[in-house]
Amino acid sequence: MTDIPHGLVTGKVLCKTQWTDQLFSLQVSAPVSSYLAGQFTKLGLLNGDGEWVRRAYSMVNAPEHRFGQQHLEFLIIKDQNGQLSPQLHQLNEGDDIYVGKDPSGFMTLEEIPPNVKDFWMLSTGTAVGPFISILESLQIQQQEATNAKPFNRLILAHAVRTQQDLTYQERIAQLVQHYQGKLIYVPIISRESVTGALRGRIPSLLLGGDLERAASVTINKADSFFYLCGNPQMVRDTSDALNSLGLEKHLRRKAGQYSSENYW
Ligand SMILES: Cc1cc2nc3c(=O)[nH]c(=O)nc-3n(C[C@H](O)[C@H](O)[C@H](O)COP(=O)(O)OP(=O)(O)OC[C@H]3O[C@@H](n4cnc5c(N)ncnc54)[C@H](O)[C@@H]3O)c2cc1C
Ligand SMILES: NC(=O)c1ccc[n+]([C@@H]2O[C@H](COP(=O)([O-])OP(=O)(O)OC[C@H]3O[C@@H](n4cnc5c(N)ncnc54)[C@H](OP(=O)(O)O)[C@@H]3O)[C@@H](O)[C@H]2O)c1
Repeated sequence: MTDIPHGLVTGKVLCKTQWTDQLFSLQVSAPVSSYLAGQFTKLGLLNGDGEWVRRAYSMVNAPEHRFGQQHLEFLIIKDQNGQLSPQLHQLNEGDDIYVGKDPSGFMTLEEIPPNVKDFWMLSTGTAVGPFISILESLQIQQQEATNAKPFNRLILAHAVRTQQDLTYQERIAQLVQHYQGKLIYVPIISRESVTGALRGRIPSLLLGGDLERAASVTINKADSFFYLCGNPQMVRDTSDALNSLGLEKHLRRKAGQYSSENYW
C-alpha cells in the first residue's frame, strides 16, 4: 500500500445511505482534529493508476453530536464523469477511506456579524449538508445554554432539480419541530411542480419576492444575513440578486449581509 499523504488519516466507513441513484451519505469514523459546524474536510482514495485523488466535502453532522467529533457524516453526489465521487459511491460499510486531519472553512456561526436577527441559509444540491450541521449545532448550544447566537428567525432554503433530491427530510422536520416556528424550511424545485415547494431558481425567487413570502420574513439590511452555498453559478447569480436588493458582501474588515462557499 502506498504511503498515506501528509494531512490524511485513515478512517472507516460505518454506514452508507442511498437517497437516489446518485445521491448518498457516508458516515465515517476518523481521528480528525476538532472542527466547527459548517466546515469541510478532504476525502481521498487511490485511483486505478495508484494516484491519490482528494476532494473537499462538508460535514452534515454537528461536531457536538452524540457520537463524538470523530464520527463524521457526508452527503455526496456521484458525478458520472468525476474522478473521486464515483469511487466514493462504491464504498461500503467496513471499507477504508482517507480523511483530511484538519477540517477548515469560514462558513460558520462564528463568522456571522453580531446583531443579525434573520439568518438565511440558501443551498443547492448537496450544500444543504453544512446548514444541517449549523442548525443541529445551534440546537445543541441552546440546549446546553452555551452562548448560542440569539437569532429571531432561521430560514433554510434547499434548491434541487427534482423532489427526490430533497434529502434529509426527517432530520429537517425534527429541526423544524425543535425550533417551534423559528426555523422556516423552504424547498425549491426547478424541474417539477410540487405542492409545498417553490418552483424555480433562488435568484429569481429572491428578486420576485417569492422567497420572502414563502418564509414570511422581510429582507432588510439591518436584520438579515445570508450564507449561500453550492453551485457556483447559483452563488454568483444570487450575489447579484442580493446586491440589487441593496445588500453587500460580508468581509472581515467591512461587515456586510452575505457570504458564500462554492462547491466547484
Ligand atoms: C468547500 C467545498 C465543499 C464541498 N462539499 C461537498 C459535499 O459536501 N458534497 C459533495 O457532493 N460535494 C462537495 N464538494 C464538491 C467535491 O469536492 C467534488 O468536487 C465533487 O465530489 C466532484 O468530485 P469528482 O472528483 O467526482 O469530480 P471532478 O473530476 O473533480 O469533476 C468536477 C465536476 O463535478 C461537478 N460537481 C462538483 N461538485 C458537485 C456537487 N456537490 N454537486 C453537483 N455537481 C458537482 C461540477 O460540474 C464539476 O465540474 C465540495 C467542494 C468544496 C470546494
Ligand atoms: N440531480 C440529478 O437528478 C442529476 C441527474 C443527472 C446528473 N446529475 C449530475 O449531478 C450534478 C448536478 O447535481 P445537482 O442536481 O445536485 O446540482 P445542480 O446542478 O447544482 O442543481 C441544483 C439546483 O441548482 C439550480 N441552479 C443551477 N444553476 C443555477 C443558477 N445559476 N442560479 C440558481 N440556481 C441554479 C438548479 O436549477 P436548474 O434545474 O434550473 O438547473 C437546481 O435546482 C451534475 O454535475 C450532473 O452531472 C444530477
